[in-house]
Amino acid sequence: MLPRTLLGFCLCAGLAVGAWGCQPQEGGEAMEEEGEEMMEEEGGEMMGQVEMPDTTGAALWSHLESVDYRANWELWPGKGELYQGQEPHGALLTTYLNSEAHEALTGMAGSMPAGAIIVKENYMPDSTLAATTVMYKVDGYDPDNNNWFWLKRLADGTIEVEGRGTGCISCHSAQADNDYIYTGSLGGGGM
Ligand code: HEC
Repeated sequence: MLPRTLLGFCLCAGLAVGAWGCQPQEGGEAMEEEGEEMMEEEGGEMMGQVEMPDTTGAALWSHLESVDYRANWELWPGKGELYQGQEPHGALLTTYLNSEAHEALTGMAGSMPAGAIIVKENYMPDSTLAATTVMYKVDGYDPDNNNWFWLKRLADGTIEVEGRGTGCISCHSAQADNDYIYTGSLGGGGM
């Protein structure tokens, strides 16, 4: 934090020659926020700043591959690999959270922040992967439905659902008080 803030200050001070100094300038604030995000990501994932993907299935999937979520993300707390799931997702599930999602869940934040990603792998009873379903929170993407981008990708790579998945929403909206999430409480009183 300190080095970034100093850098922000120096840049800001440099830019502000002849102006009123640094106080309420937007540039300085934005710089600091960016610094904080970087720290969180480094602390949580040890991999520096990661660009968030666009709202297409292909972009989201390639993001998941490039961050290697299986190796680097947390499992849903209290759930191991291949735990028993319900309809419609599959007999056995493994669910991963990126650092934003993990922090919100463990901190009982009530809802997920923009940038949160939940990846759930859906396996058949014999442990063969059938599909991967993903929820990705994007600021302003779908305000009527808590701004989730939905993805369902079959094991063979076919993208079956991407975007404002109406089928996904129709069922998950029963959990609207818990930010559309079923697996556990976010602490907002919705579950
Ligand atoms: C008929 C209801 C239903 C539909 C339709 C549905 N889900 Fe789910 N979803 C669930 C339930 C129930 C869980 C909790 C996991 C479990 O026990 O099976 C869940 C869990 C999840 C999770 C883990 C986070 C959470 O909410 O707990 C993701 C990610 C997810 N679903 C994505 C999707 C996507 C993407 C679609 C559409 C392609 C979809 N779901 C359609 C019922 C549904």
